[in-house]
Amino acid sequence: MATSERLVITSRINGEERTFLADSRDSLLEALRERLNLKGVKEGCNNGNCGACAVILNGRLVNSCCVMAAEIEGAAVETVEGLATPEGLHPLQQAFLDEAALQCGICTPGFLMSSKALLAENPAPSDEEIRFWLAGNLCRCTGYDKIVQAVMAAAEQMRAPK
Ligand code: FES
Ligand code: FES
Repeated sequence: MATSERLVITSRINGEERTFLADSRDSLLEALRERLNLKGVKEGCNNGNCGACAVILNGRLVNSCCVMAAEIEGAAVETVEGLATPEGLHPLQQAFLDEAALQCGICTPGFLMSSKALLAENPAPSDEEIRFWLAGNLCRCTGYDKIVQAVMAAAEQMRAPK
């Protein structure tokens, strides 16, 4: 039987340095939800297929159920909890609300983080590019058209001169 050990992990979570205890067998998903109480990160399949657990790790989109917590020592992690600011919602969050791009909301944090990673790489994606990028995120309620419209609207707003 595999044994586990306790790890002390320090990383930058949503811009803030956090030190926490984790089990050496914890996935990043488990550590975020259970050790750091970041319940916005959702568990769907727990095997890399649904994207509900997507977060941004050192600037790269990952499914947190497929990353070990131990791997984030010294790393920077962004979750949905870090999107809004005291000034208001992130343009992606606002666009998902405005376009009614969610119903139960379980998939939404993953879509938001995936979309954020997309817009960081491609600020003006086409409909096809959005659909291709979001192919790893599954939604069982809303359908994808409104989600794609929301990402388009947020991208436009984020490109607009301030
Ligand atoms: Fe991680 Fe589904 S819970 S991809
Ligand atoms: Fe329910 Fe997407 S809104 S799974």
